[in-house]
Amino acid sequence: MEKREELYSGKAKSVFKTEDPDLLILEFRDDTSAFDGKKKEQLERKGRVNNIFNAFIMEKLKAAGIPTHFEKRLNDRESLVKCMQMLPVECVVRNISAGSLCKRLGVEEGQTLNPPTYELFLKNDEQGDPMINESLAVTFGWATDEQLQSMKELTYQVNAVLQRLFAEAGLLLVDYKLEFGVFKGQITLGDEFSPDGCRLWDAETREKLDKDRFRQGLGGVVEAYEEVGRRLGIQFD
Ligand code: TMP
Ligand code: ASP
Repeated sequence: MEKREELYSGKAKSVFKTEDPDLLILEFRDDTSAFDGKKKEQLERKGRVNNIFNAFIMEKLKAAGIPTHFEKRLNDRESLVKCMQMLPVECVVRNISAGSLCKRLGVEEGQTLNPPTYELFLKNDEQGDPMINESLAVTFGWATDEQLQSMKELTYQVNAVLQRLFAEAGLLLVDYKLEFGVFKGQITLGDEFSPDGCRLWDAETREKLDKDRFRQGLGGVVEAYEEVGRRLGIQFD
């Protein structure tokens, strides 16, 4: 697959055209950001680790019948994906309280959330990715009612698949964020699934093994991602 001009460069990944208008190359960089881009660092190996991690998870989701943009991993840092029209809405499911939920509502971290919660955020760094709802998304044209319904169903389906996958590896899937796009009229999972966009805790000790290590300056960020991968049986070399 020929890598052509760069279409877009985000905080952690860059997107390139290919000779096929339906396919793009996603390049996973070592850049790591948090707090809407206010904290930034390069973490050695992170791009490679997330590319391999994401490919593993996307294959699992595809096998479970979830439509994803993922085609195949091309090399250490690049994967081939479908070219979609992305929707600027971030879908978040929480199984355990943490992060912005605790700040916003003053609830304690670590409570089991039953049933799991579902929240929408607008993908807009300048506005600090504000929380939105379905009414706002429809009114401002960020997604249609039907699209929002599909996104919610798929986000919960992902929860069923991944909660179990991580549980079998001795990990708690605390929460995660998904982004969707439209490919040939169908709502399709896009972006990535890696420890950059979810929270994972050791099931016994509740040690944080995700990007909170970076947000909170705990160190050992990429080592934690590799530990999660190792427990899932992912080969990084
Ligand atoms: P939050 O607690 O900051 O709202 O985040 C909930 C989960 O979603 C957490 O795993 C991080 C992820 N997330 C992102 O990766 N990027 C985002 O822009 C947002 C809003 C959440
Ligand atoms: N990924 C987002 C950012 O870079 C949000 C976060 O992970 O804190 O700001």
